[in-house]
Amino acid sequence: MNDCFYNEDCVSGARKHLVDSSVDLIITDPPYGIAGDTLHKHYNRDERYVLDGYVDVPQEDYAAFSRDWIKEAERVLKPGGSIYIVSGYTNLRHILNALAGTSLCEINHLIWKYNFGVYTKTKYISSHYHILFYRKSGGKPTFNTFCRYGDSEKHDDGGSANYRDREDVWLMNRDYKPGMIKNKNMLPTQLLMKMIQYSSQENDVVCDFFLGSFSTANVAKGLNRYAVGFEVNRRVFSYHERAFHELERGFLLSRVRQPSANRNVNGGRAVSAEEKANILGTYAQLREKGANKKNALHTLSEQFGRGYWSLLRIIDGRTKEHA
Ligand SMILES: C[S@@+](CC[C@H](N)C(=O)[O-])C[C@H]1O[C@@H](n2cnc3c(N)ncnc32)[C@H](O)[C@@H]1O
Repeated sequence: MNDCFYNEDCVSGARKHLVDSSVDLIITDPPYGIAGDTLHKHYNRDERYVLDGYVDVPQEDYAAFSRDWIKEAERVLKPGGSIYIVSGYTNLRHILNALAGTSLCEINHLIWKYNFGVYTKTKYISSHYHILFYRKSGGKPTFNTFCRYGDSEKHDDGGSANYRDREDVWLMNRDYKPGMIKNKNMLPTQLLMKMIQYSSQENDVVCDFFLGSFSTANVAKGLNRYAVGFEVNRRVFSYHERAFHELERGFLLSRVRQPSANRNVNGGRAVSAEEKANILGTYAQLREKGANKKNALHTLSEQFGRGYWSLLRIIDGRTKEHA
């Protein structure tokens, strides 16, 4: 497998270069169709380091543009593959309509809350993007539930870290890179790592229809995946393609947090009659020795590799055993 990038329009480029069902995951951030090359006026930053020539889409073309590229995305995605589309709210309806015209299924509508809202005085401050997480049916989906936090790890607030990480509102700051060349709106490494970790495996192919600064491709390479994609802006494309090839494959793997081993290793498996009898017998012994119900359940959880709530159902007689 090779990384492949094309300095071409993503719709005609995909038709030419990508065969059906050839990519495992798509993460992409289409042009916003808001104010073209005046996007920088919304941000307080040093424009000397921003590469110009960002190609936007006229508002009146946005609906057709979205239908065209999303149809291609559907075609090139493998059955079971996922797609994440980052969008502001201005043209969100066109992207949702385009998705509704495909066979792709909605999995989550995520909200990414970031730290620099566009300042406004007479209305609320916009400080979020939408991330539409969809999947192509027909194949085994990849969702690595415990890739970042094990089932028994705790968040700072005392709750489950795994639960917090998988909530559908993500609080993440943008990367602050003073003095470095960048694209007009570059996705943060942490955000891309999260989507790639949950929805792909090492050596999978990750595609971005709108590469911009190659942020998706760079993180994919850093996590030992392969990358393909398109970008129409020649200046941006040449600069970032060169930088991509200087990166070492897997350079981000040392930054990946290792989750602790799962305690509920048998979670989701059917309970046999024998296991149920063992659980009930052990529970009775623990209670006889003076353990209260809660502590007895925690001990059972460690011993039988099952979650607290499923054990509670068993001892309360609400679970049917399987032969
Ligand atoms: C929102 S930016 C992507 C930013 C990127 N995710 C990053 O982190 O740098 C959208 C990019 O799509 C490019 N673009 C616009 N129309 C395109 C098309 N038809 N095909 C491919 N790229 C296009 C723009 O030049 C711009 O760089």
